Amino acid sequence: MEQKLLFQNARVVDPSQQLDAVCDVLCQDGRIAQLAPRIPACADMEVIDASGLILAPGLVDLHTHLRDPGFTEKEDVLTGSYAAAAGGVTTLCAMPNTSPACDTPETVRYVLQKAKNAACRVLPVGAITKGLSGETLTDMQALAESGVCAFSDDGVPVATAQLMAQALENSARLSLPIFAHTEDRTLSRGGIVNAGVWSEKLGVAGIPNAAEDVGTARELALFMNAPRGARLHICHVSTAGSVSMLAAAKAAGLSVTAETCPHYFIFDEEKLSLLDADYRMNPPLRTKKDRAAIEQALLDGTLDVIATDHAPHTPQEKADFRTAPNGVIGMETSFSASYTALVETGKLSLSGLLERMSCRPAKILGAGGGTLQVGARADLFLFDPNEWWTVDPDRLHGRSKNCVFKGCRLRARVKLTVCGGRIVYKA
Ligand code: DOR
Ligand code: ZN
Repeated sequence: MEQKLLFQNARVVDPSQQLDAVCDVLCQDGRIAQLAPRIPACADMEVIDASGLILAPGLVDLHTHLRDPGFTEKEDVLTGSYAAAAGGVTTLCAMPNTSPACDTPETVRYVLQKAKNAACRVLPVGAITKGLSGETLTDMQALAESGVCAFSDDGVPVATAQLMAQALENSARLSLPIFAHTEDRTLSRGGIVNAGVWSEKLGVAGIPNAAEDVGTARELALFMNAPRGARLHICHVSTAGSVSMLAAAKAAGLSVTAETCPHYFIFDEEKLSLLDADYRMNPPLRTKKDRAAIEQALLDGTLDVIATDHAPHTPQEKADFRTAPNGVIGMETSFSASYTALVETGKLSLSGLLERMSCRPAKILGAGGGTLQVGARADLFLFDPNEWWTVDPDRLHGRSKNCVFKGCRLRARVKLTVCGGRIVYKA
């Protein structure tokens, strides 16, 4: 028999229906069954007293790396989903840079099979080119039929403009978005941190802003010329230049969307003074000017979405600053870190934050979620807006520890997460 879950006295904040009110929420058969000022409890319901807590639509993370198959010492579908649930994330997109890459229906089915036991909804992203090697396109139609939610070569850019143009044609035909990692590798080659003051101080090769900007310009130019119905979403924007190109493209009526990640609007390259590889990711932490531009773009809507680029690597791999792979984890800290940086400071309303972390990414996927409307999937989370906590990587739920927010005191703590009507996390 299906579980019935009744939340009483929660402050319910749902930007999808301009709702911010104290009320009760009933979940039944995996769906939101009722929202009302007072819903009487029955014997067959599990009742949760949510007084003092905020109940919101579950977060939707468009950009994660679950490392499964192939790199399960870093993370796997299940451990990644535990990290998601503990962070209030109820739907995530899993990037295809696994081993093998998610470039065939068999691998899509493998991920979906594992996802059946996951603590959140796991939507595989299909590769654009076979093995992400930039030589030949995958059978995008077969991938679509096997259940991918989007296409990307993330980790690397799609190697040539010609392949990206074909991918955009297929995007239109298959009605699925392209998630673009924008980077010109002839410019970023060999770089491990932002090119500038810090790459010079440390005597290491840098990744210039131009590497991202040239990539963003290419994708926007291709998208302008793509068939009607093509969809383009730009991943992990880190530069002021990408932001101004996106603003111009949107002003000209292009329907592109874009994301950034908490580390790009919270930190800058000065973190590299710690010589800690946990602060290395691609694209890298940039200058104070870039950080400010990213924040402003997130506030004014030039950037639509906050995603994490959750990229687990083992402590052994991250031990050496110079040789460590790029990437930071993020699903368990993204909500609190974003809340602390944007809502606590008065820069953004709570519903503005939920739009960027739940409603808008859900809309980009078009696969449900991102709303508490009656009849919708019962994907939600409860958090305490007044609780401060200090991030201890050893107490997170994923398999890896490469967390940029370690030691940070953050406000707003996830208390309980429900996915498809089932409690998947309880603090
Ligand atoms: O920092 C990153 N890590 N950027 C990427 O694009 C890939 C990711 C990974 O897979 O580790
Ligand atoms: Zn990427």
